[in-house]
Amino acid sequence: MSSRRDFIKKSAIIGTGLAMSPSLSFGATDPFKDKKLKVGLIGVGLRGTNHLNNVLLRDDVIVTAICDVDPRRIKIALDRVDKAGKKKPKVFGNNDLDYRNLLELKDVDAVIISTPWLWHTKMAKDSMLAGKYTGLEVSAANTMEECWDLVNTHEQTGSHLMILENVNYRRDVMAVLNMVKQNVFGELVHFRCGYQHDLRFVKLNDGKSAYGKGVEFGEKGISESAWRTQHSLLRNADVYPTHGVGPMATMCNVNRGNRFMSLTSHATKGIGIHNYIVKHGGEDHPNAKLKFKQGDVITTTIETANGETIIVTHDCNLPRPYSLGFRVQGANGLWEKDGDRMYIEGKSKSHRWDDSKEWLEKYDHPLWKKYGEHAQGAGHGGMDFFVINSFVESAKRNIAPPLDAYDAAAWSAITPLSEASIENNGEPQDFPDFTRGMWVKRKPYNWIKDTY
Ligand SMILES: NC(=O)c1ccc[n+]([C@@H]2O[C@H](COP(=O)([O-])OP(=O)(O)OC[C@H]3O[C@@H](n4cnc5c(N)ncnc54)[C@H](O)[C@@H]3O)[C@@H](O)[C@H]2O)c1
Repeated sequence: MSSRRDFIKKSAIIGTGLAMSPSLSFGATDPFKDKKLKVGLIGVGLRGTNHLNNVLLRDDVIVTAICDVDPRRIKIALDRVDKAGKKKPKVFGNNDLDYRNLLELKDVDAVIISTPWLWHTKMAKDSMLAGKYTGLEVSAANTMEECWDLVNTHEQTGSHLMILENVNYRRDVMAVLNMVKQNVFGELVHFRCGYQHDLRFVKLNDGKSAYGKGVEFGEKGISESAWRTQHSLLRNADVYPTHGVGPMATMCNVNRGNRFMSLTSHATKGIGIHNYIVKHGGEDHPNAKLKFKQGDVITTTIETANGETIIVTHDCNLPRPYSLGFRVQGANGLWEKDGDRMYIEGKSKSHRWDDSKEWLEKYDHPLWKKYGEHAQGAGHGGMDFFVINSFVESAKRNIAPPLDAYDAAAWSAITPLSEASIENNGEPQDFPDFTRGMWVKRKPYNWIKDTY
């Protein structure tokens, strides 16, 4: 704990008096304007390449090293660096543990990890132990032990970990966060969210292209089907909770004056992946014989210390349009993403929904107001720019990130806890207090600013 206290103190000193202007604003008064962050990327598959593209656009980042065990991905990444007119980075990936050699490099300050889930905690731990400012893709951890590993390593080393949850930076989500902070909804009561994304064509492919064709996975698959589908085969759990729960947790100050207390989870039967295999590969395809353990729709209800409930849905194996299904509800009214509607008592017509458009424009977040145009091309409608911007600016200053190791642990813990609850007929499961009591006095992050 003492090292944790030390680095918090150090961070506070570093943070004092910052002009805090992202290099993209090129403000003359920004003391970090000329600071270059040396970044290494571990995993340059589809997601890692997206991050690579975004950091290559920045003049305050030098990509000094990349690592991937797939030479095809290294070739694509090097090509991107070359096209951007930047210096060739050092390359790693001779074997599964070659990333450790990248972590030994002195000219890597910060690391972005975008590998399959089972590598996340191992790599993030090693990265923090090597003293690197660590950015980790979602979900951060798969088991309760891994959740604790992230917290313990962060506390032991003082190295920062940011969970790279881009949905926290979505334009509508940030506008609603702004409304929450301005108390438009009043005291918060209830949230809904989830990952509701038809992934059948991602979990199954032909081993040649990532999307759309074939019913193979594992060794015969490519990209996410090579690793993600195995989790659907073997785990009846919400294996991907953070896109939904991250934004909601931030709105109700989880780990900063509030915390997740317990959850219950229920799963439907699982028929979606099997039906897809039969339809596209035939009844005699070997994968049609497999029994996928994951229920198609998994519903988790979380209770918080401050008396809110959060319903989190995982719905990825059935035909459906994409939606994270957000609902934010307080004493004065609510926002529902599905239907794009808002109701605020006293402001909306009685018992009638408003189109949310005007509300979201009115409360557009200062960051989006300032950089929205610049962000649009960055991926996922712009939120990928903001999550990387926040990571880079926090790492340049070596200060605590907005979404930290405690968030990574609490949000990811939904996976093992939902699994335990489903296995025990919906029995409530307690969340550990990853902050070890500190949630009581930790202050909410200052989200409403136009810097990062
Ligand atoms: N935040 C988002 O919107 C978003 C979107 C897509 C994926 N993701 C997350 O990003 C991560 C990666 O997903 P993806 O779609 O890029 O998958 P992918 O399969 O396309 O890429 C993973 C890469 O990791 C490499 N890899 C595997 N083991 C390695 C090792 N030991 N050392 C070095 N490299 C290794 C693979 O060769 C592959 O290129 C996952 O956690 C996924 O959930 C997040």
